[in-house]
Amino acid sequence: MPVITNIQDLKRLYQRRVPRMFYDYAESGSWTEQTFRDNSNDFDQIRLRQRVAVDMAGRSTATQMIGQDVTMPVALAPVGLMGMQCADGEIKAARAAERFGVPFTLSTMSINSIEEVAEATSKPFWFQLYTMRDLDYTARLMQRAKDAGCSALVITLDLQILGQRHKDLKNGLSAPPKLTPRTVANLMTKWRWGIEMLGAKRRNFGNIVGHVDGISDTSSLGAWAAEQFDPSLDWSKVERLMEMWGGKVILKGILDVEDAKMAAKVGADAIVVSNHGGRQLDGALSSIRVLPELIDAVGKQVEVHLDSGIRTGQDILKAVALGAKSTMIGRAFVYGLGAMGQQGVTQTLDILHKELDTTMALCGEKSVQGLGRHNLLIPNDFAGNWQGTDRQTDGSD
Ligand code: GLV
Repeated sequence: MPVITNIQDLKRLYQRRVPRMFYDYAESGSWTEQTFRDNSNDFDQIRLRQRVAVDMAGRSTATQMIGQDVTMPVALAPVGLMGMQCADGEIKAARAAERFGVPFTLSTMSINSIEEVAEATSKPFWFQLYTMRDLDYTARLMQRAKDAGCSALVITLDLQILGQRHKDLKNGLSAPPKLTPRTVANLMTKWRWGIEMLGAKRRNFGNIVGHVDGISDTSSLGAWAAEQFDPSLDWSKVERLMEMWGGKVILKGILDVEDAKMAAKVGADAIVVSNHGGRQLDGALSSIRVLPELIDAVGKQVEVHLDSGIRTGQDILKAVALGAKSTMIGRAFVYGLGAMGQQGVTQTLDILHKELDTTMALCGEKSVQGLGRHNLLIPNDFAGNWQGTDRQTDGSD
């Protein structure tokens, strides 16, 4: 067993242990993957200001997200098919998050169902909603989340249509995997995954199978998204969903100032600045690059979280210092989950916590609340030389 000291070590182990199809699913961006790459690379452009001879005793990474106490400014983002990364993946990730004291978000596209995760955990988790054409099904899904005691609804706004990830098409991504000569050859090298998977509570999409009619292929995320996701989702529908939920709402997938202002206007409790980990609009700016502008525009009206590209505690510190209240991690914990199940997710959280805590100390900060732009060295052109033009009201551009 290799010595694990950072997230990249977990990623290497993850790659060895998990079938190629599911590694590729997590590790892909859409089309050319430019935005996927930018998400991490742009964090590297920001540097940190070292401060010395500052009293470091009694530091804390604790903070709050939507009024909820958290051990550090991190939540587990909704990730589809976690239960294919390892047997009962959603349950294991939820338990690790609960024990660590950070929120867990269950994806609509999960393998373990809402009810299975609720039964296996003792604190409320968040539920992520994809809006379906079938409003009755959407309403039932929200009701199931309410009945399970979910404490926030995370509505994803950037996936009415699925961005194309070439590898998923080439691999024939499905849950459970379809047995072709190629997948069987690969599965034979992943014996640990296979043995554990035989004992899994579930190997299909737990929030869908048996709950919705008229899908041609319930094992395919692509087919499901194309047939069921509501392409007509707009702000009036978002408001309607928020009313139907009646509790805390986080709007995820915001990258533009105008959209951030709309999210604040409709009364979201928080927004997640996100390009879906570079999996949707390839060519969009990285989340960290747009963050300062969004904070300046709406930071006083709505809580801002950031995801896409976080792989280290330094990244977390940079996002928070730029004004995000907190961050969400996706791939960083999926690596841990695929590598070592619940223990691997705990290890991801431990690594990030230690990195964040040490980085805070070396920046001369004792608390997350004390972090600010004064901790950062940011290139003059970090906001970019890109100029956008708003749509003209007369329809011309
Ligand atoms: C679903 O959320 C995906 O990005 O595959």
